[in-house]
Amino acid sequence: MKKKRFEKHSQLLFFYLRGSKRFFLASVLFSFMVSMLDLINPRIIAFTVDSVIGDEESSLPGFVLAWIDTLPGGAGYFKTHLPVIALVVIMVAALAVICRYFFRLMNSKGQEKLVRRMRDTLYDHIIHLPLQWHNDNQTGDIIQRCTSDVDTVRRFLAEQLTNLVRVVILITMSILFMLQINVKLTLVAIALVPVIISYSFVFHRKIGKSFQVVDDMEGRLSAMVQENLTGVRVVRAFGKERYERERFAKANEEYMNTWVHLMQLLAFFWSSGDLVSGLQVLLIVSFGAVLCVNGQLTAGEYIAFISYNAMLTWPVRALGRVISEMSKAGISIERISYIMNSEEEQDGEDVTDAVNMGGDIVFDHVSFAYAVSKKEEKPEKEAVPVLTDVSFTIPAGSTVGILGGTGSGKSTLMHLLDRLLELDPEDPTRGSISIDGVDIRKIKREYLRKNIGIVLQEPYLFSGTLAENIAITSEEIEMQRVRDAARVAALDETVGKFTKGYETYVGERGVTLSGGQKQRTAIAQMLLRKPPIMVFDDSLSAVDAETDARIRKALEEESKDTTTILIAHRISTLMHADKIIVLDHGKIVEQGTHDELLAKKGLYRKIFDLQQPAEAS
Ligand SMILES: Nc1ncnc2c1ncn2[C@@H]1O[C@H](COP(=O)(O)OP(=O)(O)O)[C@@H](O)[C@H]1O
Ligand SMILES: [Mg+2]
Repeated sequence: MKKKRFEKHSQLLFFYLRGSKRFFLASVLFSFMVSMLDLINPRIIAFTVDSVIGDEESSLPGFVLAWIDTLPGGAGYFKTHLPVIALVVIMVAALAVICRYFFRLMNSKGQEKLVRRMRDTLYDHIIHLPLQWHNDNQTGDIIQRCTSDVDTVRRFLAEQLTNLVRVVILITMSILFMLQINVKLTLVAIALVPVIISYSFVFHRKIGKSFQVVDDMEGRLSAMVQENLTGVRVVRAFGKERYERERFAKANEEYMNTWVHLMQLLAFFWSSGDLVSGLQVLLIVSFGAVLCVNGQLTAGEYIAFISYNAMLTWPVRALGRVISEMSKAGISIERISYIMNSEEEQDGEDVTDAVNMGGDIVFDHVSFAYAVSKKEEKPEKEAVPVLTDVSFTIPAGSTVGILGGTGSGKSTLMHLLDRLLELDPEDPTRGSISIDGVDIRKIKREYLRKNIGIVLQEPYLFSGTLAENIAITSEEIEMQRVRDAARVAALDETVGKFTKGYETYVGERGVTLSGGQKQRTAIAQMLLRKPPIMVFDDSLSAVDAETDARIRKALEEESKDTTTILIAHRISTLMHADKIIVLDHGKIVEQGTHDELLAKKGLYRKIFDLQQPAEAS
């Protein structure tokens, strides 16, 4: 599926709002009704003071006055029926309560649906991003974008955007009502409004940057925690606890200081804002009192006006908050769209899955370089060549061994084969890899990977039982097949020692398996699905020579017609292969059978001689 790019932040927001929009619209509607109901009470108070307690003309809207006129005795009716006013006040309040309830309900539903959609789409996108992207980005930072940034966007859409509607209604309506009561006093009241709004606007633009700094810092902090938790054994083993603790403490303190600075700015903003609002209230109260004494304003109108003015204070201040949240949300959306706009692994139009994966595999003049950042700063990348002009053929159904020291490029070669890494399509000099004559770039990725089984050098077990891990690619766990695979992988004895056997919990929260046990679990995992191409990337490095021999023997039987690639730095692991390729610093230095290579008296022979005594002892 071709995913679109989100050129503008609003596009991404609308994409996320799919499914939750109607709930937010409903919540805005209820919020509107709450605001309207809130605006009624001051008018009732004004009417009560002026026309019920006093004998002034009422300034209520025409249709209400017309209704009052139909009552026996007009406005005088209320003098004898005071509870009716109370009843109206209670009814208005009750209606407002009901509207508030539905506002909250609709808003929460919208929020949950929105967040779910954001998380789902992000997760789906992230797991489809190329390995290179995952290499380039820190896990902790990605997690932060998926949690804290998602939350900021949720808060903005759910709280601030609905707030905005209320704010606009309250401001317009209170100003309208105030104008109806007294124009002069209204002008005084709104004189300071532009000042407050522009002040908060300028201010929030300024702190937008600070929020970004804080966010990035938080990302770095969680990346640090994540790294340390993952590598907790290494930290312990090297007694680096103190160093790591101090490194964390330093970053944490920096983070705190930045926050404190930001909070100081905010505190200054809110309190100076309070001062301006207080000044405005003071102006209204004193100027209104003068008008009242001069008879230009009734007592009821005075009270109502002050109520409306108080209503104006909150939304004007809130407008600043909305703008502030907007800048924060803008940054979060930017950080999320960085993920959403990263290109997923995509198959071209002309890919096929009609390929005989059991055919010859040909590496043709393959060269590869990793793009590596020079320093911690991202942009500048340096190409570090890892493979140079590697050409060899793996005949269908044969077993090929690849021998080479650590860092010689063996794993890279295999990641190129199942396209976790990509050969540069723009650059033909980078060479090509084909299976049964088809360039692997023309093979559907999913199909390719399903048919190439790689036992990774450092296998990863998921939290779950051993059986679940072995049968991870199957829909159902067939215990007989799990046991058979484990037997071939020489895992059965180990399992026999666990009291719970195959039901033993492994992975992050369970029993920690040794490197060799993990490798054998991964081998069993692959044997269960028996793909036509099997790759063992240094998969026997952590098991002892005896078990190594036992597994290889069992594998030989199992893999008669599968193409097998055995990667090792121990000659005994791959000496029985049909062909052995010797890799050194990303170049092929020799290839041939064990006997041919020994006769050549080259690097292979040298390694063989070096390893002989060690193997014998
Ligand atoms: N993701 C990566 N980014 C940058 N360099 C890498 C990456 N993976 C491996 N390398 C480098 O590429 C070289 C070959 O690595 P690799 O293929 O893993 O070797 P081998 O499997 O033979 O030990 C090494 O020098 C290693 O440091
Ligand atoms: Mg390797």
